[in-house]
Amino acid sequence: MPKESQLMASLPQQTSFTDEAWVEVIRKMDEAYADLIGYQVQVEEQNTALEEARSFFDSVQAAMSDALVACDHEGRIQQVNRAFEELSGSAADSVVGLSLVSLCCEDSQPRLQQALQQLRQQPVRDLEISLQGQKGPVPLALNCSARFNRRGRLIGIVVAGRPLGELQRAFKELHQAHAELKLAQERLVQAEKMASLGRLVAGVAHELNNPISFIYGNMHALQRYSRRLIKYFDAVHAGQDRQSLMALREDLRLDKLIADLDSLVEGTLEGAGRVRDIVDDLRQFSSTQKTSKAGFDLIHTLSSALHWITKESPAQLKVITDLPEQLQAYGHSGQVHQVIVNLLQNAVDALQDQSQPQLFIRAGQTEDKVWLQITDNGPGVPEDQLPRLFDPFFTTKPVGQGTGLGLAISYGIVQEQGGSLTLENCSQLELAPVASGIQASLYLPRSTQAEEKNDG
Ligand SMILES: Nc1ncnc2c1ncn2[C@@H]1O[C@H](COP(=O)(O)OP(=O)(O)OP(=O)(O)O)[C@@H](O)[C@H]1O
Ligand SMILES: [Mg+2]
Repeated sequence: MPKESQLMASLPQQTSFTDEAWVEVIRKMDEAYADLIGYQVQVEEQNTALEEARSFFDSVQAAMSDALVACDHEGRIQQVNRAFEELSGSAADSVVGLSLVSLCCEDSQPRLQQALQQLRQQPVRDLEISLQGQKGPVPLALNCSARFNRRGRLIGIVVAGRPLGELQRAFKELHQAHAELKLAQERLVQAEKMASLGRLVAGVAHELNNPISFIYGNMHALQRYSRRLIKYFDAVHAGQDRQSLMALREDLRLDKLIADLDSLVEGTLEGAGRVRDIVDDLRQFSSTQKTSKAGFDLIHTLSSALHWITKESPAQLKVITDLPEQLQAYGHSGQVHQVIVNLLQNAVDALQDQSQPQLFIRAGQTEDKVWLQITDNGPGVPEDQLPRLFDPFFTTKPVGQGTGLGLAISYGIVQEQGGSLTLENCSQLELAPVASGIQASLYLPRSTQAEEKNDG
């Protein structure tokens, strides 16, 4: 608004007022009045905007569950929000003007004081202090920031305090949820193992049936033979003459019996050996981490796993191998067996709808590692799913046929033994034996004599 002196200064310089001069005065006064009205409207608009901003700010502040304190540059409280009032048990009016530090418990005061002094250089993050509340200390995690004016001078401090009780409770709940999840995962891992054991047991029962039934048959034959032999020896002891002994020998068909004996015993021993091998295989599969690491033949472990898996697979499955006689790896053979069983099972599962299913198995060694590659000519995996194959519970198999833990567990086992396990689409490889399908590559430490001696 123009001042009166400015108004007078802008009047024409005359010694006496003429009519025109009065008109000019009135015009200037009109102008000044119109300006006044304009300023008035502007001020009112600004006031309304200010009011709205203030009520918005107040409602945000009131809705916060964190305490908010605005202080001047010396740390004296200028304003607090409702959460601060509730936590401290003091009304805003009673704390305005007090130093924030003085409202803290004694043991917190030096820390807060020091942090506020350094605030110009660095903001304070998660400083744990206790506020003196009406009902006792209130633990808070503070974040403090400095407020500067346009010229960069410190004009105040803004402090936000999160009640630690709430954080601690949230942390406890998180901890408990984590523990429950871990337990559920352990149970699932166990369930996965039991499920694969279940699959194997069906094969094992079938496999055991064969040798046991022919051992059984042989033993029955031996039992019958022994009765006939006893009868003949009784006759010998009774002193029967040579002629009747010859007749008895003929009658009892002893010559055929004697010719049979060797093959009966051999067959029985072979059957018993087969049973022992099956039990050995099973023991390998069910062995746990408790066994110590040792040198073992990867080819033997592979053969045993392959034997079980291919037994249940479609008859037209063609297994093409390129393997050395033996390959000394170092680790837990039982666990490696479990890994290979899963890789083979996955490959066989992927080949289910293939008209000419093929499995390529190669193995070899480098300076310090042994390797095994299992490749199938199945459909492979969409590229975007590849990174998820090792995720626990990732499965594309129907419910009840796969838990999605096989590869996750295998990965853990191989890592723990200092090896590596990768799955790639053959379509992305230059040297794969087939154009489609998956190539699984397993690397394990090579056994050295020193390691084996240490184990011994
Ligand atoms: N050779 C493969 N060809 C195609 N897909 C594969 C192959 N190997 C693994 N996968 C994919 O990876 C997924 C995860 O395999 P993983 O062995 O972890 O679990 P799963 O076989 O589904 O179940 P589980 O092993 O627990 O019985 C499979 O569901 C399948 O989609
Ligand atoms: Mg699997």
